[in-house]
Amino acid sequence: MLKPATSLNHIAMPTNNTAETYRFYTKVMGFKLKSAVREERVPSTGDETPFLHTFFALEDGSCMAFFDIAGEQFAGRSDGVPSWIRHFAFNVETYEELLSWKARLEENGISVLGVIDHEGIWQSIYFFDPNGLRLELTWQKRELEPEDTAHGEELVRQWIEEFNQKDADEIAGDATPEGAEPQDRQPETAPA
Ligand SMILES: [Fe+2]
Repeated sequence: MLKPATSLNHIAMPTNNTAETYRFYTKVMGFKLKSAVREERVPSTGDETPFLHTFFALEDGSCMAFFDIAGEQFAGRSDGVPSWIRHFAFNVETYEELLSWKARLEENGISVLGVIDHEGIWQSIYFFDPNGLRLELTWQKRELEPEDTAHGEELVRQWIEEFNQKDADEIAGDATPEGAEPQDRQPETAPA
């Protein structure tokens, strides 16, 4: 049966300046440039748009990726969504590391918000990359337990009801994508 996607491969965002982006992600954040692709044409759409696509990897191999389009300046345009909503959060392993990262970022002239406590579970700092993307470094104090999930399901159910959103039963009752099997079920063995 169809298994849900396993992990994050990459998130792709626009950049106006690959030099600044490269410096920030490799020299400040310590990510590794994993790969880069240069094309004259967009493979998925066929548009003639010369671009450089860069991939900066975290330790687990997942990447922050960027597109720099030749001659285009579009990163950072506001669409009215508050700047705290869209952000990318990365794990650190200890609270001490979180504090060290705050200091390191500030030494690099980056202004840092926090440490902010979330629910007694996550301790986070927030800052912006050179493209205006909000980033979060977070230390998660403990594993999430079944009670956390049950609480989350209840909040989702209440929210949907309060704001009269559609498909409430489907969303709150079963988060498994249509056609997918829950992970704890054994896949059927295909006949040899
Ligand atoms: Fe967050």
